[in-house]
Order: sequence, then structure tokens, then C-alpha cells
Amino acid sequence: MVDLSVRIGSLTLANPVMPASGTFGPELSQVFDLDALGALVTKSVTPEFRAGNPLPRLCETEAGVLNSIGIPGKGLDHFIGQAMPEWRRFRAPLVVSLSAPTVASFAECAARLAATPGVAAIEANISCPNLEEDGRAFAMHPEPAAAATAAMRRAVGGLPLWVKLSPNTGDIAAVARAVAAEGADALVVANTILGLAIDIETARPKLGSGMGGFSGPAFKPIALRLVWQVAQAVRIPVIGVGGIATAEDAVEFLMAGATAVQVGTASFVSPTAMLQVIDGLRAYCARKGIARVGALTGAALPTALPAAAE
Ligand SMILES: Cc1cc2nc3c(=O)[nH]c(=O)nc-3n(C[C@H](O)[C@H](O)[C@H](O)COP(=O)(O)O)c2cc1C
Repeated sequence: MVDLSVRIGSLTLANPVMPASGTFGPELSQVFDLDALGALVTKSVTPEFRAGNPLPRLCETEAGVLNSIGIPGKGLDHFIGQAMPEWRRFRAPLVVSLSAPTVASFAECAARLAATPGVAAIEANISCPNLEEDGRAFAMHPEPAAAATAAMRRAVGGLPLWVKLSPNTGDIAAVARAVAAEGADALVVANTILGLAIDIETARPKLGSGMGGFSGPAFKPIALRLVWQVAQAVRIPVIGVGGIATAEDAVEFLMAGATAVQVGTASFVSPTAMLQVIDGLRAYCARKGIARVGALTGAALPTALPAAAE
């Protein structure tokens, strides 16, 4: 018997596998039992209605996907009133991804989510433009990332607060340290990396908004490196995401310092990819004589991880 459970701060997950925000919805319950997952993660919810970016919003590349979805959605009132009842049908802990344009708005929305029954954690997607400052993503620099985290920490009390970092920064370890210092319970590493594809017949970018976020298999070594750097910079748990499609990929992320993993683009190829990752993790641990999947966390790091390995 392998113990697949992991702890992310005060939250215990039955296993370390969950979906990546924006690549998953409750409709997947028609394909498999969502309660088999360690947690459920919503697409990012925004304060107000958003139409999203111009079409086309998705573009396949050789070994990954570019997207510029632009977080379309009906806003927080609709999420709490209409979407939450549907999410509450499941037993797996629900992580609500939140995106907002200002520090105050992040805090206000986080407080409302913290007061909503059935929300197990907030995952703050800070890869969105900071409209009060220069319009650059909060996650690009330590100061705005820390300011958003501090405001949300005050707003949500003891509710677990995860902060999702961006690869589009020069020094992710500095951003990670700043966010951890303001009381984040875990870091999700990472969001998509900026990329571009051009249609050479029209001489236009293939995506309606020009640049997009790159994800999928070719992103994996970059995301793995980011997890490795962040895990050595902070003592809070890291959740690894980027190009994970198989249990072997997940083991690499755990060994690089992650306590849990998220699967995104791979679910578009195979909607049951997450189940295969869970089964494969169990089989890997059994084959290696590992009793607890948590023992893999940080196994490949130069020094053992004390607190984050729990
Ligand atoms: C179509 C699409 C939509 C996404 N939407 C969101 C989102 O709403 N919020 C968010 O934090 N990340 C979003 N992401 C990023 C993913 O959660 C994940 O960080 C990224 O895709 C890397 O993982 P992957 O290579 O397994 O897909 C989206 C990714 C894709 C491909």
C-alpha cells in the first residue's frame, strides 16, 4: 500500500494530482469521477464580466500550445451564485483561482470567496496586468506580487492562500521569497510562458491578440527548472505545473521540490491523463519500495527540503 496523501499547509489532499486552472471544468465529470483527484481547480474568476481576447485564442505549435484566452467569464457574483452550487457536488477540495486588476480588488474578491461555503483554498493568479501601476503583471516583480499577497492574506484569514507565479520574470526566486514572506501558504509554479506564432501567408500573428502563453510538453524543462529554483528559495510547499502528461513527468516535479502537481494541456489530448498520473505515481512508488509519495519531494535537490517536504 502506498500513501499518496500530501499536505499543503493545513489542507490534506488524498493524492498530489489536480487540474491546472483554465483547462478543466465540472463537465469532465461526464468522463470520469472527479473525486478521484487530489483537488479541483477552477478557471480564474474575475471580479466582473469579461469578454476575453479577440479570436483566434488557441494555436498549436510543434510541442505545445499558445493561448491568449484573456480570462473570459461572467464575474464573481455569477461564480458564487451559479457556479458554486455545481462545484459543491464534488467531495474533492475546491481551489478557486482568482484574478483581479488591482490590489484592492484582489483583497475584496478573496474576502468574498473566503466567506463562500465550499471553497477550500484560493489560488491567486497574479499573472494579470496591474492596472493601478504600469499594466505589467503583478507576478513580474517582487513588490506588486507581495502587495497583492499581503492584501489577500489579511482578507481571507485562515483560508489557505496559494499564489501562482509566472515564468515571465527575471528572478522567480525573488518573487517567490516576497510572496512567501507575506504569508502565502503555497506557491503554484508556473503559469504559461510568453510566446508567439506567425502566419507567414498573412504576415500576422496566429493569435488574435498577438502574443500568447505557451504550455505543454516543450514547456516542461522550463517549468521544472522554475520549481527547482523556487523550492530552494522558500520553505512553503510548491505545486508544480507545466508540461506534465505522465506519472514520470510528475515524479520529476516532485523530485525537483514540488509537493503536488497540476496537469493542464495534457488533459486536452487525453481527458483522463490525470487519472493515469495518479495510477502511475502509485505504481512507481510501489516498484521503488516508497511507502509515502511525500518522500519524493525534493529528492533531487542538492540539499534535503525540511518543512516543504511535509
Ligand atoms: C487554454 C488555457 C487556459 C488557461 N487558463 C488559465 C487561467 O484561467 N488561470 C490560470 O492561472 N492559468 C491558466 N492557464 C495556465 C495553466 O493553468 C498552466 O499554468 C499552464 O498551461 C502550464 O501547464 P500545462 O503545460 O500542463 O498546460 C491556462 C492554460 C491554457 C492552455
